[in-house]
Amino acid sequence: MNKRSFLLGGVATIATTGSVFADRQMAQGMGGMPAMGGTSGSRDMGGMAKPSGRIAALPEGAPLRDLPKLANASSTPGQFVGTLVAAPTKIELAPGKVTEILAYNGHLVGPMIEIDEGDQIKISFENRIAGQESTIHWHGLPIPPQQDGNPMDPVASGSTHLYGFTIPAESAGPYWYHPHPHRNTAEQTYRGLAGPFIVRPRTNPLPAELVETTLFISSISLLENGAIAPNTMVDWMNGREGDHVLVNGQRNPVLQAAPGSSRRFRIYNATNGRYLRLSFGGHTMTLIGSDGGFLASPVPGVTDILLAPAERADVVVDFRRAGGRVTLQDLPYDRGWMGPGKPASTNRSLLSIDLSGQPQQPVTLPTRLRTIPPLGASMATKRLLLGERMSTGPNGMTMEFLINGRAFDMARIDFTSRRGDVETWEIVNPTDMDHPIHLHGMHFQIVEREKNGQKAAEPILAWKDTVNVARNETVRIKVRQDIPGRRMFHCHVLEHEELGMMGVVDVI
Ligand code: C2O
Ligand code: CU
Ligand code: CU
Repeated sequence: MNKRSFLLGGVATIATTGSVFADRQMAQGMGGMPAMGGTSGSRDMGGMAKPSGRIAALPEGAPLRDLPKLANASSTPGQFVGTLVAAPTKIELAPGKVTEILAYNGHLVGPMIEIDEGDQIKISFENRIAGQESTIHWHGLPIPPQQDGNPMDPVASGSTHLYGFTIPAESAGPYWYHPHPHRNTAEQTYRGLAGPFIVRPRTNPLPAELVETTLFISSISLLENGAIAPNTMVDWMNGREGDHVLVNGQRNPVLQAAPGSSRRFRIYNATNGRYLRLSFGGHTMTLIGSDGGFLASPVPGVTDILLAPAERADVVVDFRRAGGRVTLQDLPYDRGWMGPGKPASTNRSLLSIDLSGQPQQPVTLPTRLRTIPPLGASMATKRLLLGERMSTGPNGMTMEFLINGRAFDMARIDFTSRRGDVETWEIVNPTDMDHPIHLHGMHFQIVEREKNGQKAAEPILAWKDTVNVARNETVRIKVRQDIPGRRMFHCHVLEHEELGMMGVVDVI
């Protein structure tokens, strides 16, 4: 069972909120109230009050650091052998305060794994997290589910596990890795366990002189003493946004670039629950790739990009200005909210780019990047109705997020798909919030979005592994599963995933 009880602080507020959601739940006819479970799954999730006693600001403006790279212990061409150790690590984020994070190999952003299409990967994972199982999930990689770090395959605290898989041809793209243990995914990830996994193409369609920078965006909330703040009830309901948005583990770092130059940015939203609407101000972006690698052609003139949790964007920016500072801004986006504690919108700067030095010429991008064949006629339809359910009982409040009225149960198979069949998955979201829906181990194509009876074809054909389904929206995607086995699909607001919004598809 996946139930959580909120042990109450502000009873009145919560009781009111609870009945509102309960009424809506019954009005929508999505099933009765959940039975209150025992106390075994209960956890104190903090009060409803706006968090106080937190560190309000972190130092900014240090030079953007390159992400450390995971060393390849193999000298055989086409092979990558490495080790990732998840362990508590002490770092300093706020001056003079010690923050204990969970880190892969001691780094706040896990080391970057960079390999080529077709490579054979062997990564030994050591779980040194006291008292908790963990796994490593290779987000977006088209690999067999047995090697994909699913909650069914936990790695016990104190033990080591070897993951092994081969990266298929034509799968270059910006992937990432993070823990996926049953009921501890959200916490282990917000404590620091996540890193980029880049698959390089055999032939790069981009000009060789184009410089690239990976921007791995996460967030963190710190108590006054420097410790990572636990999730509050607001975090559990809405997804943890985090007080401080970090790029490569740094608050608003500075990057140096030549005036007139072009730069490629691979941008990750690795936060648990914060939507990012990114803009380089007056400098437009050319979108060249998405979750599953390059688009067919570059899309120039993009002013801002919405990245829901787990989504990635690959963009090129030409800094057509003689000098000065350009900032990467996080613009407001209304993704819906349950209860109090909605953060004020900000136009905060996530990264500053200082233009200085010898002027350069922008690069010219090719008109074609790759071929993306449309998936074609679909043979079956699957429907995912997203839901939320809140109830009060003797132990406090239970909050669940549901798919087709059910909370995640790893022993249950929710869907069966036949290998090679093209299917339409229709994801319907009548809830209070947007939900970014992710399918493991494959890429899909977004077909259309429907809101208030209006259908709109998706303008850009891309390979995706995560799609934002806005509230009151229905999104249709085409899915073709090529690898047999049981894999997960879920909301990538990790708190929602943990509170039930996840299912199992068995590919036969
Ligand atoms: Cu990043 Cu189950 O996913
Ligand atoms: Cu995944
Ligand atoms: Cu969600």
